[in-house]
Amino acid sequence: LKTIYIEDILKMPEGSHVQLTGWLRSKRAHGKLVFLDLRDSTGVLQVAVKGGVADQQSLEAAASAARESLINVEGVVRADSRAPGGIELAANRIRILGGVVGDFPIRRGIGARALLDRRHLHLRSPRVTAIMKIRARLLRALRNWFDENRFIEINCPSFITAAVEGGATLFKVDYFGREVYLTQSVQFYQEAAIYGLERVYSIQPSFRAEKSKTRRHLTEFWHVEAEMAHAGLEDLMKTIERLVGESCIRALQESGEELGRLERHPSLDMLEPPYDRVRYSEALEILESKGVSIPWGSDLGADEERVLTQDFERPFFLTHFPKEAKAFYHRIDPTDNRVTLSADLLAPKGYGEVVGGGERIYSLDELMARIEAEGLDPKDYEWYLDLRRYGSVQHAGFGLGLERVLQWLLELRSIKSASLFPRTRARIYP
Ligand code: 4AD
Ligand code: MG
Repeated sequence: LKTIYIEDILKMPEGSHVQLTGWLRSKRAHGKLVFLDLRDSTGVLQVAVKGGVADQQSLEAAASAARESLINVEGVVRADSRAPGGIELAANRIRILGGVVGDFPIRRGIGARALLDRRHLHLRSPRVTAIMKIRARLLRALRNWFDENRFIEINCPSFITAAVEGGATLFKVDYFGREVYLTQSVQFYQEAAIYGLERVYSIQPSFRAEKSKTRRHLTEFWHVEAEMAHAGLEDLMKTIERLVGESCIRALQESGEELGRLERHPSLDMLEPPYDRVRYSEALEILESKGVSIPWGSDLGADEERVLTQDFERPFFLTHFPKEAKAFYHRIDPTDNRVTLSADLLAPKGYGEVVGGGERIYSLDELMARIEAEGLDPKDYEWYLDLRRYGSVQHAGFGLGLERVLQWLLELRSIKSASLFPRTRARIYP
């Protein structure tokens, strides 16, 4: 069992004797002196292998070691201002524990597609590990926020029988001869759960058969969703802005080293709530002024959102979408029956939608009317209608795309970089 990591060694006093296991990132030879840069999950350490200090066998092992070999070193900690971290390990003995077969297939200058083909090997790079550490901290911060704010975590099924977000992006699954689907959102199960638990959240994958090829669509993504009883649109937006602001700030504050490695310096001020609210009808005017005209009633796509958000410095809510642009379950605004009580959170500088949500219809008659108006079969939504029959309660909820938020905060060109093994229409391997 490994008990000492590079981050521990970097804090040790000179003269400490240690044994470390890590992978060979790079190697430089100066005559009889060989420098090995070893990497583990916590950092990179320079190891100096020198005649007279290390035995002959170790000198030969160091000279022949190939990139990405697994190496065990016994040595002494020394200060060296030229070493990364200001510390190096003077090796007394090195052993190769895991050799290398052929050249490691990832080299400098390799293209983005070739890197994705070798994702199983690329995951060990400092860039990918930095993103994955930030992702883990963001997930933890989101979960902590919910736990500190009276939400109960629930886990919902991924096999479903009827669409939540429209039929166009449903994945069909053969379920013992019956056609079922992979879930697009656990919203409906959360709506059932609030009658017992009042405020719930879930963190699990959602699936979308996205045919469009964009930089922000995955076919499988991690969806952070929440539902609250006794809440309307304004309560919902206050919840979303606190969750996003406080969790992102916390995760970024904990990630100084990784952000440095990625050369990213997202502004924490930009994340401080409250966020502006912009109505859909105002958004159309902004778009019009930028030369993009879309007919009232149609949804904004990635292109329109890019133009709309370009000049914003902070995230903002886009509210009151027309009912034609939204799924059937959205509550109609009682003061203007052309629009819904809905809100998306849009990230600035072209990134666009990162959260989608709104108030739900809680009257049985209204829900039935909307299902019929949309040409859906009420039989498919029988249990969902039941929820409006027994003590129906005003409620609202939202879904946040974890990879979307990371793409925005870390300014990633493609959403694929935010995922360990991204799934898109064109990519399901490795
Ligand atoms: O806006 P969406 O479709 O809303 C829902 O699914 C609601 N039922 C959620 C709810 O109210 N409980 O999806 C929510 C968020 C989007 O804002 C986006 O961040 C993310 O999920 N998302 C995707 N992320 C990556 N790839 C895709 N194909 C995504 N589709 C949605
Ligand atoms: Mg949406």
